[in-house]
Amino acid sequence: MSREKIDGQLFSYTGPAFHYINEEERHFFAKEPAQFRVNLIGCGMIGMEHMRVATRVGRSAIHGVFDLNERSVKVAKEEFAKITDEDFKVYDSLEAACNDPEVDGILICTPNFTHLDVLKVAIKSGKHIFMEKPMATKLEDAYEITKMAKEYGAVLQIGLQYRYKSIYSEAIHEVLERKAVGEVKMINIMEHRIPFLDKVNQWNKFSKFSGGTLVEKCCHYFDLMNLFAQSRPVRVYANGSQSTNFRDFEFKGEKSDILDSAFVTVEYENGVRAGFNLCMFAPMFHEELLVCGDEGRVKAAEIEDFSENARLRTEMEVFCGQNRPSKTSQPSYPKLIEASGHNGATWFEHIAFADQMAGKKTNSATVEEGFWSVVVGCAAEESVKTGKIIEVAELLKSKGIDL
Ligand SMILES: NC(=O)c1ccc[n+]([C@@H]2O[C@H](COP(=O)([O-])OP(=O)(O)OC[C@H]3O[C@@H](n4cnc5c(N)ncnc54)[C@H](O)[C@@H]3O)[C@@H](O)[C@H]2O)c1
Repeated sequence: MSREKIDGQLFSYTGPAFHYINEEERHFFAKEPAQFRVNLIGCGMIGMEHMRVATRVGRSAIHGVFDLNERSVKVAKEEFAKITDEDFKVYDSLEAACNDPEVDGILICTPNFTHLDVLKVAIKSGKHIFMEKPMATKLEDAYEITKMAKEYGAVLQIGLQYRYKSIYSEAIHEVLERKAVGEVKMINIMEHRIPFLDKVNQWNKFSKFSGGTLVEKCCHYFDLMNLFAQSRPVRVYANGSQSTNFRDFEFKGEKSDILDSAFVTVEYENGVRAGFNLCMFAPMFHEELLVCGDEGRVKAAEIEDFSENARLRTEMEVFCGQNRPSKTSQPSYPKLIEASGHNGATWFEHIAFADQMAGKKTNSATVEEGFWSVVVGCAAEESVKTGKIIEVAELLKSKGIDL
C-alpha cells in the first residue's frame, strides 16, 4: 500500500466530511483491499487496540475473534461496528479460530500465563503469528517457545512494540545506526506511571499469572536495554517492593503480590552497565532513556501528564561535544497515529507484521529478543525475592536451560 493511500485512510477517519463521495470515485480516500486476514485471540484491552489499529492501517483485516469471556466479545463486536462494515465472526473454539483456511495470521492477545498453551494450538496451523509480550511468565516456558520458533516456517513476532514509539525509534537511529554517542557504555531507563489497570479476572495483580511486574510490564524496557547494549546480560541486581498499590487488594480470596517500585541494575557481557527505575504510583506517564557513550549522550523522554488539553510531550537531546553536531527535537507521529494506541507504537508494529507476512525483513522483536527480555525480568524478580545478585548463566542452568 502506498504512503499516499495510508495518509488518505488516516484523514478519512477524521470524520464523515468526505463520505458523500461515492466509493468508486474516491482516490486519496479510497480504501485498498486488505492484503491479509487475521484472527484475534483475546479481545480485551490490547486485543481491541490491535483490532482498531489493524483496521485503520488496512493491511490486515480482522476476520474473527475467539475469547473465553462473553463480555469481551460483546464489547469488541460493538467497537468493531464503529470502525468497519465488515462481518464480525466469533469462533467457539481456539482450534477453529486458529485453523480457519480464510485466515493468514493469528494475533495472540490473551494474558501472559496463557501464551504458551495458546501458542501450542496456534502453531499447529502453520499460519503467521503475532504474540503479545511478555512471551511467557517463566523462563522454562520462554525457552520452550524459542525452541518452537526455531523450527517454525512462518512469522512469529513478539509484541515488544516500544521500539516503535517515536522517541525510541529516533534513539535507536541515533545510537545504533548513526553511532551518535560512539561506543555505548551506560544506559538508564525510567518509567513512572499510574498503577496497573483492571483486567479480566485481575490477572495482572498476581505474579503467578503475569510473571511479576518486572516481567509483565518491564520486559519492554529490558528489550530496549538489550537492544542498546547490543550484548547479553550477565548479572542482575534489583530491589523493589509493593510499597503502595493494591496492598489491600484481594480477588477470589487471594491477595495481590506484585511490585509497584524497583531499581534494577544489569551488567552486560561487553561491559555496558544499565539501570532501570520503576515507580507505578506516579500521577502521570513519564518515560526516560539515557544512553551515554564515549563520544556523546542521548536523552529521550515521553511525558503524558493528564493536564487539560495537554498533548503528548516528547523530548530528545543528542549531545556530541566536539565530535559531531548536537541537536534537540520533539519526535512525534501524526496525532491520529499517536492516538491510535501506545503513542503510535501499535500502528508501526502492525505495519511490521504485515511487512513480515509479505516476506519483508523488519526490525520488530524476534522470539530470541523476546526471550532475553524475559530473562532480565525473571532475574530481576528473583533478585528482589532473594536479595542476591543473580548470575544469569546460573539462573538459566538452574532452570535446565542450556544455550
Ligand atoms: N504491548 C503492550 O504494550 C501491551 C499492552 C497491554 C497488554 N499487553 C499484553 O497483552 C496481553 C493481554 O493483556 P490485556 O491488557 O488485553 O488483558 P485483558 O484482561 O484486558 O484482556 C485479555 C482477554 O483475553 C481473554 N482470555 C483470557 N484467557 C483466554 C484464553 N485462554 N483464550 C482466549 N481468550 C482468553 C480474556 O477474557 C480477555 O478478554 C497480555 O499478555 C499483556 O501483557 C501488551
